[in-house]
Amino acid sequence: MTKLLTRMLGMAAIGWAAAPLHAESLTLASPDGKIIVTVTDDGGQATYAVSFEGGQVIAPSKLGMIFAEHHGFDRGLTIAGSARASSDTTWEQPWGERRLVRDQHNELAVTFAPDAGPARQITVRFRAFDTGIGFRYELPEQAALRGDMNIVEELTQFGVGEKTTMWYTPSDEFNRYEYVTRTGPAGTVDDAHTPATFRNEAGIHFSIHEAALVDYSSMSLGALRAGNFEARLRNWSGGPKVKTAAPFKSPWRTIQVAREAVGLINSDIILNLNEPNKLGDVSWVEPGKYVGIWWAMHINEKTWGSGPIHGATTAETKRYIDFAAEHGFAGVLVEGWNIGWDGDWFNNGDLFRFTEPMPDYDLAELGRYAQSKGVRLIGHHETSANIANYESQMEAAFDLMQTNGVRAVKTGYVADAGDVVRVDENGIRRNEWHDSQFMVGHHLRVVEAAAKRRIAINAHEPVKDTGLRRTYPNWMTREGARGMEFNAWGTPPNPPSHEAMLAFTRMLAGPMDFTPGIFDLRPNERPPVHADGPRGDPSNRPQTTLAKQLALYVVLYSPLQMAADLPENYEARMDAFQFIKDVEADWEESIALVGEVGEYVAFARQGRKSKEWFLGAVTDENERELSVSLAFLEKGKRYRAQIYRDGPDAHWDTNPYAMVIEEKAVTGGEAFAVRLAASGGVAVRFIPEG
Ligand code: NOJ
Repeated sequence: MTKLLTRMLGMAAIGWAAAPLHAESLTLASPDGKIIVTVTDDGGQATYAVSFEGGQVIAPSKLGMIFAEHHGFDRGLTIAGSARASSDTTWEQPWGERRLVRDQHNELAVTFAPDAGPARQITVRFRAFDTGIGFRYELPEQAALRGDMNIVEELTQFGVGEKTTMWYTPSDEFNRYEYVTRTGPAGTVDDAHTPATFRNEAGIHFSIHEAALVDYSSMSLGALRAGNFEARLRNWSGGPKVKTAAPFKSPWRTIQVAREAVGLINSDIILNLNEPNKLGDVSWVEPGKYVGIWWAMHINEKTWGSGPIHGATTAETKRYIDFAAEHGFAGVLVEGWNIGWDGDWFNNGDLFRFTEPMPDYDLAELGRYAQSKGVRLIGHHETSANIANYESQMEAAFDLMQTNGVRAVKTGYVADAGDVVRVDENGIRRNEWHDSQFMVGHHLRVVEAAAKRRIAINAHEPVKDTGLRRTYPNWMTREGARGMEFNAWGTPPNPPSHEAMLAFTRMLAGPMDFTPGIFDLRPNERPPVHADGPRGDPSNRPQTTLAKQLALYVVLYSPLQMAADLPENYEARMDAFQFIKDVEADWEESIALVGEVGEYVAFARQGRKSKEWFLGAVTDENERELSVSLAFLEKGKRYRAQIYRDGPDAHWDTNPYAMVIEEKAVTGGEAFAVRLAASGGVAVRFIPEG
């Protein structure tokens, strides 16, 4: 009866569409009252808007959805009901940037119903936190919406403003997420992956992304009018954007908002909008540092395929295991260990055998040898994005890994965007995108198959991170941006601003397996291993100082953190290597202290095990003086600071190795000043005294 009445009132409102008096408008405030979301059905159009401290962040922007088989929710809508809730809880992460995560938010669920056609409704649930908002569509089961509900268009828009500065990577290019971050006025951008970062004319920073991407396709930002983006969903090959049926819930669309750029980093809303751990006891998920037979292939010292310089041999793996054991690393990654790498592996994904080691790689012996030394092998499944081939072997492949003591597997999906291979129910080969609903589902199938064997996943060429590590804590890390490997062969290599940019863009999504710690900063100038072997372009090299390589262990978070260089390069610089040995990969607390997008950033993180604090700061091509407050240390307490900083004349291009390693007494609460060289950095370990 009430519903009927509401619908009648709704129809009246439509009849008076021109008169704003009859439009309903609801607001939701963040707990501190600074962020306000306004939701209306003005003119029969569902819209939302977001403001921060009274200034507009998102202009009134459309909401809605269109289906292939049914009427959509696109026009003639009225607010048919709403419900409010508030919550303030704290939950514990098994591993992460911080152990305790506070989830404090206010909620408003708004139900919209169309005035024409069969009775049906859709709810948009909003949550407002002090650091941003999230909203998602919820389509309940209902008589008028039976059967397939394939989504042809999600109508969500984001009116960010034409002149708002935007930092983004393009969403429709062959190299997936692996682009140097671009910047420009939002009004000049055609399409962008999320997270995309913005600073409006009032100096407010915000970031658009999504949380809990499950059984749906990824959202990118497609330009409509200049400065106004729509949620563009990746489509299936020859099909809709999303295959679904009622009831369903979309992923959360998230808008983080902060005055200072670092406020975007100091936000947990992506994790808070994900479901709690579904795996139960995950004590077997072990954060830690690893080394591996990896960089050697990227700099042409070794090969993935068989031959005279095959990397994954039993002897070479033992060398890495010994090195790991001696220096306290938990894992050894080995790539190129299985059948399928010979020839053009980029294009021959159907040849990979995930249970058949190469003849010169004794997996059983190495699994045993590693464990006898307190180390574990890290497995590698490069699929070249042939999902049909991989999924047919996946269960057996993880069984084999488990049998050999493996607790983490790196997966890989090397292929151009849109070239993922799926074989459909009729046996026809289809091509899908890395960020399609199909791949969203595939990654979770992998994560679940791995979890059954107590194995964690580190996905390369993945779908972007949307915080699912909360629900599946064995999905530990991933790539999904230009990593260190671009400095081996990615003409041009990553620019000096790259890491200070990642901190405010890609890293807002979650951990990244960037693989830092390159000590030989001109890797393509090493003497050739083979007179006629392939040589890299010498201009490909990390464009950083050595101190910046160390700082990356604090700046770029990954619970599986690689020391990526060759053992011999570490042996040559044991003084600098000491920091990599000391730094942790799992944190009790993390704080982004100061920074500007793509220019510089400083982090403080407290180790989960040792409770020691670490500081890391990096800068772009500009040298700068930085003063950070040691307020994260106990006030008035004395600490020994072990400092690894750029030497006075250090410069990434001309003098990258100039580094000062020194100890200083510092007091909690005081200011800590440091000079960063051009593309330099600083890494500090604080040891409490007394
Ligand atoms: C690309 C990955 O990012 C890299 O880490 C890996 O070594 C190669 N693919 C081969 O799988």
